[in-house]
Amino acid sequence: MTGGAGFIGSNFCRWLLQNTDVRVTVLDKLTYAGNEASLADLPRDRVELIVGDVCDADLVDSLVARVDGVVHFAAESHNDNSLNDPSPFVQTNVVGTYTLLQAVRAHDKRYHHISTDEVYGDLELDDPDRFCEMTPYNPSSPYSATKAGSDLLVRAWVRSFGVRATISNCSNNYGPYQHIEKFIPRQITNVLCGLRPKLYGQGLNVRDWIHVDDHNAAVWLILNEGTLGETYLIGADGEKSNREVVEEVLSLLGQPRDGFDLVADRPGHDMRYAIDSSKLRAELGWLPTYTTFADGLAATIDWYRDNEAWWRPAKEATEAKYAKQGQ
Ligand code: NAD
Ligand code: TYD
Repeated sequence: MTGGAGFIGSNFCRWLLQNTDVRVTVLDKLTYAGNEASLADLPRDRVELIVGDVCDADLVDSLVARVDGVVHFAAESHNDNSLNDPSPFVQTNVVGTYTLLQAVRAHDKRYHHISTDEVYGDLELDDPDRFCEMTPYNPSSPYSATKAGSDLLVRAWVRSFGVRATISNCSNNYGPYQHIEKFIPRQITNVLCGLRPKLYGQGLNVRDWIHVDDHNAAVWLILNEGTLGETYLIGADGEKSNREVVEEVLSLLGQPRDGFDLVADRPGHDMRYAIDSSKLRAELGWLPTYTTFADGLAATIDWYRDNEAWWRPAKEATEAKYAKQGQ
């Protein structure tokens, strides 16, 4: 797998250790978002970390040659960063995916591509529709545009070269080991540091939250039982406005629910994401296990409270970066 030192990838490693007997080779560049500490306690005979770039064709080819299949998580993943400097997004998300596709094509290996619901653009708050597999692509940001481009490369390599691939597009994940630049861990660690949570704009934007373990269980199911060439949307019916999420974080941490600041909005900010995951549920029998957001959020808060050493070193620089842009 790629990107195993990041948020979802490191949780995928843990999930695999607990639920399967596979051995994992992780290819990860250890960018600012990759953290070796996220894998440090895992048994070396089950999880091997190779530090390298998914754009390095020789390295990728030699690794793909010796594995049974590839799950591609590695990406530049933060929208705000993509607005400040799109270049690594084009390189890693587009060229990196191309590099992997050429290797799995050459070695005829099974490939699963991890993507996002953001490729579909956004919905109005009052739109009765949700995204489904047939929704046309309409990405808004450099991040979502490069993810959309990578998905389309996968589809073309399936059709043109017979690559044995599946794609999943998932909604916003939460859980342990998520970088504190992201919405939920930023607000949790703000409160833990005595800072106020920061809501972009009026805090009305809606995201469809799913616990990272539910995402990863779906990925394993698709990898093993999904139909080749197909796309599956992953979502747990978890729509919440950003303001609702912040109020819940404050309340779970014993603070007044209105103890947040409204700050500068993100340019081009997508209003709402919402996933219809009926295909995954009907065809593969997947169901989320974290059905109460407040419980998953409380467990996530406990993890950040108990693992300050994991996030503290990045806090000052992350907040300094946001402060510069009035956020
Ligand atoms: P993350 O930013 O936490 O982790 C990304 C990992 O990829 C890091 O370990 C980083 O070091 C590594 N990486 C970056 N560039 C690399 C390169 N050139 N070569 C090798 N490794 C490189 O991201 P995440 O939130 O865990 O997201 C993982 C995947 O899931 C991404 O493809 C993302 O688009 C997708 N996704 C994320 C969410 C979400 O809510 N976080 C939702 C849907 C889909
Ligand atoms: P984010 O975690 O960046 O995920 P994405 O952009 O992929 O949805 O942000 C989630 C939502 O939270 C999004 O609407 C932007 C908003 N947001 C804030 O209101 N304040 C913040 O400090 C951050 C980081 C995000």
